[in-house]
Amino acid sequence: MQDPKKYENNKSGAEEAVRVFLPKLFQTMKWSGSENVLDYGSGAGSAGFNYILPEVHNCDSKMYSVDVSIKMFEFAKKNYSHERITYGVGDVLDNTFPFEDVKFDKIFALHVLHFVRDIRTMLSGFHKILKPNGQFGFTTLTCNAWIFRSLKELSESENWSPYMKDYSKYFPSWLDFPKGREQQDIRELFQSSGFHVVHLEFLRDRDYQFENINTNTFLEICAACNPCSNNIPANLNQAFKEDLRKLLTGYAGIPTNSKRINFKHDYIWGVIEKGKEQDINSNL
Ligand SMILES: C[S@@+](CC[C@H](N)C(=O)[O-])C[C@H]1O[C@@H](n2cnc3c(N)ncnc32)[C@H](O)[C@@H]1O
Repeated sequence: MQDPKKYENNKSGAEEAVRVFLPKLFQTMKWSGSENVLDYGSGAGSAGFNYILPEVHNCDSKMYSVDVSIKMFEFAKKNYSHERITYGVGDVLDNTFPFEDVKFDKIFALHVLHFVRDIRTMLSGFHKILKPNGQFGFTTLTCNAWIFRSLKELSESENWSPYMKDYSKYFPSWLDFPKGREQQDIRELFQSSGFHVVHLEFLRDRDYQFENINTNTFLEICAACNPCSNNIPANLNQAFKEDLRKLLTGYAGIPTNSKRINFKHDYIWGVIEKGKEQDINSNL
């Protein structure tokens, strides 16, 4: 995601989920004091600043906020700076993580995992930077979410494939679980990556009502989630959004010109904990 202003202006659904699920993550995690807390995939910065920072402050701890996108990093640093937060840009997937000398008590990744292609490499990276018994709390959509299905479909279409050749690399296929096996499969993934599962919850068909598809909400945020958006010529942006609208309203089973959309999506949240070194699976 490359456009911090667009994300900030249109993230009502994501923010609602942060308001609902972050307190659950907080309650599930162990808190002491003077901790190092990482907000990974911190985006435009407001979720960390508004919702994680108060807890960090209560525990007299420090917060580090990292995003792979330089635009997100710059926006967050400019608009959400605070004496307890250190911002950085980088990625644990390719050894560009900016705070390699810091060990963390907690990592949060709110609505980030569905953008991650190689989850095992990410979990291995988190394992390295967590302290023993450090915890990782996350929220994520699954790959069935209409947004990922629509982008995949468009990337394979005659009109848009020339601009979205790379999309298959971004599609979160690791979040494709056979129906009924979601909890078990994700649990096995974490366990075989050296983590104990503290709590895991899979929610089928959670819903969130976007009041207006056109302005300030769903269509914009879905278009902003297109990792190939920079390849689409500016004069085709509107046509792209219209094709996206057709697919999204089709999944919702409503007319294309509907004003509202009830976004139904499967959702996973959980807390996992770094196990003892000998628990790590040899394939890491
Ligand atoms: C949907 S935004 C969520 C932002 C914030 N956590 C929130 O809840 O508002 C996802 C963010 O994850 C970042 N991201 C995606 N893959 C990443 C990676 N491998 N490493 C770091 N950040 C990543 C994107 O750049 C984007 O800013």
